[in-house]
Amino acid sequence: MLARAAQERAELGEASEQEQTLLQDAARARRSPPWLAAGGAAAAVLLLAGAGAGALRLSRRGAASSADRFLSKEADADAEGNPYATEPWNATFSVVLSGKEGGAKSNFTVTVHPDWAPEAAKRLQDLVASDVFDDARFFRVVPDFMVQWGIPADPAVAKTWREKKIPDDPDAGHSNEKGMLTFATAGPDTRTSQLFINYKDNAFLDSQGFTPVGKVVEGMDVVEGIQSKYGEEPDQGEIQEEGNAYLTKEFPDLSYIPERGDWQFPCREQVA
Ligand SMILES: *[C@@H]1O[C@H](CO)[C@@H](O)[C@H](O)[C@H]1NC(C)=O
Ligand SMILES: *[C@@H]1O[C@H](CO)[C@@H](O)[C@H](O)[C@H]1NC(C)=O
Repeated sequence: MLARAAQERAELGEASEQEQTLLQDAARARRSPPWLAAGGAAAAVLLLAGAGAGALRLSRRGAASSADRFLSKEADADAEGNPYATEPWNATFSVVLSGKEGGAKSNFTVTVHPDWAPEAAKRLQDLVASDVFDDARFFRVVPDFMVQWGIPADPAVAKTWREKKIPDDPDAGHSNEKGMLTFATAGPDTRTSQLFINYKDNAFLDSQGFTPVGKVVEGMDVVEGIQSKYGEEPDQGEIQEEGNAYLTKEFPDLSYIPERGDWQFPCREQVA
């Protein structure tokens, strides 16, 4: 097999640049995509079975019967009463990289694109307007792959959002390249409040329902500075159950988004 031969050459330090790229892509494709560990039995099966195509099909059937959809299609205003933006808008996220209480803050800015992913853009506006990310930790950080967050700090709040699923957006031809912001999913029509930012070109996610909703336009160095030493250790189920009580005890140095007020939501002014 070509890959085996390339692997052997890589181990000897003799692989060509092209072979190295191929091997890296293959390694990335084997990684678990930003699945949600929330939802019903279908999502659980999918997690146990890994990210294979078979597992994906299984969840497709499950999702259809367990649809408790949040019908954002029928609403025309966000949680604060602002009309949903139809033009691209910027959201500036404040981050305490050190994870320390009252630590220094850095910013990164994402341009949100309703034109790429209207349902996701509306949800993001609702999440921002509802302060859902305040105090939330970046709980899954895989260098060379992606950083994932969006489970609310308070488990009571997390419980309500994990039920509010939105329909998928059709692929608008934007790839999960470096800096792209995309919702995590547990299969078709299961997106809720979890997001991730790609650290590398992860085009292999494009065909798995991961439709980008925006792109980091400023502060990618901040995104890349998010604490990664805990990797994928934090358990999504425990975060859902116990929220920050669990995370701050077990993973005290996780970077986080501090309270509102550090938010910039220009859309609010634009549409007010
Ligand atoms: C968003 O921020 C970028 C970088 O600061 C800026 O170039 C762009 O004009 C902003 N877009 C909007 C819609 O405000
Ligand atoms: C981050 O953004 C806020 C709000 O616009 C601003 O007041 C603050 O100075 C920014 N901080 C840094 C480090 O750029």
